[in-house]
Amino acid sequence: MTAPTPAGTPAPGTAPGTRDRRSRPRRSCLAVPGSNPRFLEKAQGLPADQVFLDLEDACAPLAKEGARHSIVDALNKGDWTGKIRVVRVNDWTTHWTYRDVITVVEGAGQNLDCVMLPKVQDAQQIVALDLLLTQIEKTMGFEVGRIGIEAQIENARGLVNVDAIAAASPRLETIVFGPADFMASINMKSLVVGEQPPGYGADAYHYILMRILMAARTHDLQAIDGPYLQIRNVDGYREVARRAAALGYDGKWVLHPGQIEASNEIFSPSQEDYDHAELILDAYEYHTSEAGGAKGSAMLGDEMIDEASRKMALVVSGKGRAAGMRRTTSFDRPEA
Ligand code: GLV
Ligand code: MG
Repeated sequence: MTAPTPAGTPAPGTAPGTRDRRSRPRRSCLAVPGSNPRFLEKAQGLPADQVFLDLEDACAPLAKEGARHSIVDALNKGDWTGKIRVVRVNDWTTHWTYRDVITVVEGAGQNLDCVMLPKVQDAQQIVALDLLLTQIEKTMGFEVGRIGIEAQIENARGLVNVDAIAAASPRLETIVFGPADFMASINMKSLVVGEQPPGYGADAYHYILMRILMAARTHDLQAIDGPYLQIRNVDGYREVARRAAALGYDGKWVLHPGQIEASNEIFSPSQEDYDHAELILDAYEYHTSEAGGAKGSAMLGDEMIDEASRKMALVVSGKGRAAGMRRTTSFDRPEA
């Protein structure tokens, strides 16, 4: 039996393998400027679940052409074992996008897991990227459909269209919140990315985060929170990351090695929650079996568990298993 996945039931018609791709851990997603060879080298040794090599905002316009080739080289020659390898291209309103995709995917498509598309505004932009990827895969003799897409939501138009965006391609693996561009796009009165704007008194991001999360979950995609720019303030990072994790987000960007450990910890279940989830699954399986009396609900200590408890436990156990956690308790069958 395959391990349960955190992201719920696959969408109808999902191709085999897609579900596994979408459930790969992405607790920490490390941004690496594609124009900086030192960072491209260093990133390989860091314990992030995902790296994304950036051709967009971390790359100056004059450096983009050279960065495409540095990224191809780093993907083909580097050791990225254990990491999801992503390249962020420029958005479709620029003139760089098609050449970013063609250079990187023709040059290193077999060593690349996903292309991240920033500032997505509607479903057609995802469809266009999907078609371009398919043509490159066919031309190069790569497996068609293997390379996934990550869609960044970074403005009001993207958020309003997020349901259609999330449904636009079977290649989609994640929907990513881009707080910096988003704050600018809606004129939010704060310059500290990820922090609350002064004078509001409530969580100014709640609606945006939930809106993205609902679209992602409807289509069995992962939901990822974007960057926190005060890179020396790890406590501030933790607080913002906890907010996203509490809602159900799968991971968050990291801009600095100092944020990786915090992200990996916050987006993994605690050992206690993981053990508890595994116990619920064992107890539920036993009590619903013939040997356990084929019951619809049962007691685990002082707690009543039923099918809904099983589903909640599946989420936590799926995340724990994906993160390589080991349980420290076992289920004892009640005496007959
Ligand atoms: C990320 O791209 C952001 O704009 O926050
Ligand atoms: Mg952005």
